[in-house]
Amino acid sequence: MKYTSHYSVLKKECIDLLSEKAPAGEVSFFADLTFGGGGHSFEFLYKNPLFQVRSTDQDPDALSNGYLRIETEKLSDRIKLINTNFEQFPEIIRNHSPEVFLNGGFQGILMDLGVSSHHFDEADRGFSFRFDAPLDMRMNNKSEDFLTAEEIVNSYSESGLKKLFEDYGEEKNAKKIAVKICEERIKQRIKTTKELENIIFHCYPKEHRYGKTNPSTRVFQALRLEVNRELEVLTNTITQLIPLLKIGGRLAIISFHSLEDRIVKNVFRDAALGESLFVEVLTKKPILPSDEEILNNSRSRSAKLRVLERVESKKLKNKYKQ
Ligand SMILES: C[S@@+](CC[C@H](N)C(=O)[O-])C[C@H]1O[C@@H](n2cnc3c(N)ncnc32)[C@H](O)[C@@H]1O
Repeated sequence: MKYTSHYSVLKKECIDLLSEKAPAGEVSFFADLTFGGGGHSFEFLYKNPLFQVRSTDQDPDALSNGYLRIETEKLSDRIKLINTNFEQFPEIIRNHSPEVFLNGGFQGILMDLGVSSHHFDEADRGFSFRFDAPLDMRMNNKSEDFLTAEEIVNSYSESGLKKLFEDYGEEKNAKKIAVKICEERIKQRIKTTKELENIIFHCYPKEHRYGKTNPSTRVFQALRLEVNRELEVLTNTITQLIPLLKIGGRLAIISFHSLEDRIVKNVFRDAALGESLFVEVLTKKPILPSDEEILNNSRSRSAKLRVLERVESKKLKNKYKQ
């Protein structure tokens, strides 16, 4: 298996913002919860020989490619790549890497959400309608804990499918597509990406079938989010990461669509109102890729980066007001 190289979105911005407050001449720990091709993880290591990284991924291809790269670059004493869904990270990391907490916690934690280029380019993973492949779409395709897209398409009720396509795909033809899927699957189980693409294509009015966006884009996005429980996992995880940060440590999250960005924005806002752990949101507006980055990598055009910092107490300036 060759792992498709992945362009790391907003790389410089993430590394600079997360490492800005790292104390000079001391070891600092960073977590990269979405290792993928390792672009962000390795950049921390290249930036400073005192930086240590703890990374996770749940995708078997990303993991085997990562282990090989870590060995080839002889960096195994500075980076640990953990095979897990990042939902479990807050629970396992204290036992896995106690040295991080002896050092006060993480200086920076990064999440670069969603799937990687490898997922879209590896035909048999079923993420892309560009290839005919089994409808799988599990990032962790070795796990039986996730339903495949095929299981969802062939088992959800008509109203369940309609709601899924509306909520996670913002698909205008959701009802028509759900009805048609239910009609077709009685005749024959829907098993492949091309079979599904063909059904969706014919649910679109003729004049909209050849637009800039393929008619299947939104339904495929909705299925992918459902298969991997992406929004639920994200919501469950963010607040649990804050106690892992040292004071002055930062959490940076790159999202790629409005559903994810809304979750990040709202959880950050609520965290800033919290009374037990104090945080400040550093990005009132999200940081976006430059025109040059978008030109080099069109996938980055929808990226939004939000950052928060764990602080000692709320709004230090209030202390001096009285
Ligand atoms: C956008 S890619 C990250 C690319 C990476 N930053 C780079 O520069 O190469 C997202 C990666 O996170 C992984 N991932 C997504 N959700 C995950 C989760 N809940 N737990 C663990 N890994 C996850 C995916 O398998 C994928 O490899």
